[in-house]
Amino acid sequence: MDRILIRGGKPLSGTVHVRGAKNATLPLMAAAILGEKPVTLHNVPCLHDVFSMEKLLNEMGMTSEFTGRSMTLDASTIDSQTAPYDLVRRMRASFFVLGPLIGRYAKARVSLPGGCAIGTRPVDIHLKGLEALGALIAIEDGYVNASGQLRGADFALDFPSVGATENLMMAAVRARGVTRLTNVAREPEISDLARMLVSMGARISGAGTDLITIVGVDSLGGSEHEVIPDRIEAGTFLLAGVGTCGDVTVANTNPEHLPNFLNKLRDAGAEIEIRGARIRAKCCERVRAVDVVTQPFPGFATDLQAQIMAVLCAAQGTSIIKESVFENRFMQVAELMRMGADIDLDGNSAVVRGVPSLSGAPVMASDLRASAALIIAGLIAAKGETAISRVYHIDRGYERIEERLAGLGADIERIRE
Ligand code: UD1
Repeated sequence: MDRILIRGGKPLSGTVHVRGAKNATLPLMAAAILGEKPVTLHNVPCLHDVFSMEKLLNEMGMTSEFTGRSMTLDASTIDSQTAPYDLVRRMRASFFVLGPLIGRYAKARVSLPGGCAIGTRPVDIHLKGLEALGALIAIEDGYVNASGQLRGADFALDFPSVGATENLMMAAVRARGVTRLTNVAREPEISDLARMLVSMGARISGAGTDLITIVGVDSLGGSEHEVIPDRIEAGTFLLAGVGTCGDVTVANTNPEHLPNFLNKLRDAGAEIEIRGARIRAKCCERVRAVDVVTQPFPGFATDLQAQIMAVLCAAQGTSIIKESVFENRFMQVAELMRMGADIDLDGNSAVVRGVPSLSGAPVMASDLRASAALIIAGLIAAKGETAISRVYHIDRGYERIEERLAGLGADIERIRE
């Protein structure tokens, strides 16, 4: 298994180009199931999760071609509506195929994803929503068996789940009649999915607000669609710059996707400059402590919580970080403490007492965003070397991160084993 070696303590500087958003790409790929003509996605990131979704779609008979950063998906060859356990268990986002399968074929058999490192992550909202749309749902042998012609309905989500909003939107586009989904997620990835579905012929309004209205149509065509930039990747690079007292610009991004995050960076003492699709963050001294509460969009993204914690470990003062989206998302804490961080955990809150600097240590990645946090901590660490093992987690969501950080002046390398 590969490892990443970092000798930290160097301020990062320069410009890094942000790739297409993983969390937008995965549901967009699933939405291609609905198209009676091919869908071509541009700005697709080369990530393990994208390859896993492609494999799953291929398994169902979908034809795909991925060249450069463009992927064409043709659903006309689909001959199976089953998403097998072996593929779904590797990536929870595989569950996105349920909505489009039942919407288009009136039947689907999709393995339940099971738990993951950051909590039990149930799918009850997805299933309740589909039942409200008239699907018959049975859980058998670890699989969700769904059947029935869907009809429009009103449904209020218990929590603005990103995945449930996307699954239900994809299911409802071909339901008979009008669907009103309330208390939906407002993340930019939802609006991106709605934009592509509309370009395929769907009738959707309200994406980006907490009420989405969908008028069912009989069929959907193809689309050519540019995936939005990855706001989490942009945030991760900016944090690496700020944490090392550097001067980093992220290009090809959308500053409107990071409102709360950029304010936190300002509160921590960074100078933020926005020019079109570029964000520059400059920090001349150790950051100041700030309190963070993760929330659904437009709040502070849970997917940036671990990375900002790494930065705040070396801040002046004490920060309180509250995780309110996931039940168990502090996997990075024990490893950060091995690097000299001073953190107390109390349920879903962490008290982070800033120390003058971190020190390098061998550490282990446990999930995608926790791995990014360990990389940032390694870059901050003024003495010693950090060796991160299990880096396959990071390859799920960041494309060649070590090469891009090296381009910003980091002393970082991947040891292939
Ligand atoms: C998506 C993102 C993930 C991000 C998360 C929150 C993708 C591929 N992944 O995950 O990176 O961290 O949004 O921004 O887009 N919940 C239920 N029942 C359900 C569904 C969710 O209780 O049926 C709970 C979850 O356990 C969790 C919370 O709702 O505590 C948020 O989950 P959700 O928004 O659904 O996250 P995902 O779509 O899985």
